[in-house]
Amino acid sequence: MACTASTSKVAIPRPRTRSRRARLAGACVAACVALASVTSASAQAMFEPPANQVMLGFWYDSADPYYDTPDTINQKLGNNVPVFQLSQQIPLPAFNYTTGAGGAAPESLIERSATDAAVFLTIYPTTFDAITDDDFTNLAKQIYDYQANLNRTVFLRYAPEMQGTWMTYGFDPAGFLQSWTNMYTIIKAIAPETIMVWAPNTPQGYPYGQQYTAYGALSAANQALLDTNGNGELDAGDDAFSPYYPGDDLVDWIGLSIYYKGVPSDIQNNVQPDGYCASIITGTDPADNSAITEFYQAYCASKPSKACMFAEAGAAFHVNDDGPASQTQLQQAWLKDCVTSQTMLDRFPRIKLYMQFEYEKVEDSNSGTKDLRDYRILNVTEVRNEFIADIASLSDRFTWAQSRAPPTSISSAGAPAATNSAGSSVIQAITATTRPRPTTFPSLFGYTSDGTQRAEWAELGIMVAAGAVGAWTVMRTL
Ligand SMILES: *[C@@H]1O[C@H](CO)[C@@H](O)[C@H](O)[C@H]1NC(C)=O
Ligand SMILES: *[C@@H]1O[C@H](CO)[C@@H](O)[C@H](O)[C@H]1NC(C)=O
Ligand SMILES: *[C@@H]1O[C@H](CO)[C@@H](O)[C@H](O)[C@H]1NC(C)=O
Repeated sequence: MACTASTSKVAIPRPRTRSRRARLAGACVAACVALASVTSASAQAMFEPPANQVMLGFWYDSADPYYDTPDTINQKLGNNVPVFQLSQQIPLPAFNYTTGAGGAAPESLIERSATDAAVFLTIYPTTFDAITDDDFTNLAKQIYDYQANLNRTVFLRYAPEMQGTWMTYGFDPAGFLQSWTNMYTIIKAIAPETIMVWAPNTPQGYPYGQQYTAYGALSAANQALLDTNGNGELDAGDDAFSPYYPGDDLVDWIGLSIYYKGVPSDIQNNVQPDGYCASIITGTDPADNSAITEFYQAYCASKPSKACMFAEAGAAFHVNDDGPASQTQLQQAWLKDCVTSQTMLDRFPRIKLYMQFEYEKVEDSNSGTKDLRDYRILNVTEVRNEFIADIASLSDRFTWAQSRAPPTSISSAGAPAATNSAGSSVIQAITATTRPRPTTFPSLFGYTSDGTQRAEWAELGIMVAAGAVGAWTVMRTL
């Protein structure tokens, strides 16, 4: 019974303590799968689009003053987006009827879009120690409700960007691996169709300034996991991903956060270098040509049963900077280089989903100043129109969701129902339609305006917790 799986400290699942026989069997399976992919290319990850097709996902901002929803995104794009991202915390804070904070992610917005789009649920732990088996069981029931009662495909991206202290749970490989294993066991037992997405942050700038004080404060076990080249310290020569990889048997899709925030300056609007995204995923930092951890070969090409994705991605237009590039020039360069590029699509066929981060938000710049960054590609008419045209010119490379009638009962706006769509008392699948800015955003997201900033900080208290020296370095280096 997975529900009774223990959260007590167990041996760190790395190195994996499988029997030699199991390891051999695993190696055989891996070899056979690799062989099969050469001959038939038939090995596929769950919900992977066929042949040379890819999916476009959107992570949208339904908060004031943006009010984006799956429906408005679909309308602006003129196509039905097949995957929409939502986020929530674990343990799940209770829904606050005054502020609209907490509670399960507002999945009802996807229901209202009247398509069969998949739910992409990002789950941010507060800390791993705070999570009980019951928390995972509740999450599993929530997901199962989406699957069984609402017929949704569900991606689960648990504890993303786990390498950095800007996440309250970050920079703790031993804790991550243990929690992931427990999460996987409990969720898959209740909702086996759940697509498990393992998604670290970009290797650019790794180890994100954490090599000094933050590394020194870690346990010996964590230090040993992170010092992959065994030279006694954490540095850019260490692998940015492998300390956190739970193993092929515990992962379905593999993602990466990948953004363009400006080269050489992260507060100035310059068009990105050609081949920016290709460079990042093949082991070279496009900012200075230094070596970074290779991603595509290691996690996509060599794992034919896994599909890869850009789990959150976009180009930042610096709203308060005068140039030289316009928002149109800057974002068209990003889209043509990273998303609608025939070259990218053909060279990296295992990247099967591109998740657009459709937000405007304030972030900390390299120099520590506040910088309002607009990642939205559907908000500028020229960018949007050319994007739509570029997608169309790639004919059938992008796949879309199908229309279908929404469920007959979607609870009224403003408050979550007490019971789910099947009348049982699990966490309800359909909650409020609109509410104040989600409270589940970690500090990396910053805020969208002064008003929402205060609300977010007060509700989360996460910015304070993430105040370690290294926490902001990722934003400085990107
Ligand atoms: C809801 O949020 C308000 C404002 O932050 C707070 O005063 C109140 O205590 C919260 N209610 C619950 C039940 O937590
Ligand atoms: C569930 O959704 C899929 C994909 O849209 C569809 O093919 C299938 O018929 C649906 N099943 C039911 C029972 O509605
Ligand atoms: C862009 O977003 C703003 C809100 O930030 C909105 O007022 C404006 O109408 C949007 N423009 C377009 C072209 O969608």
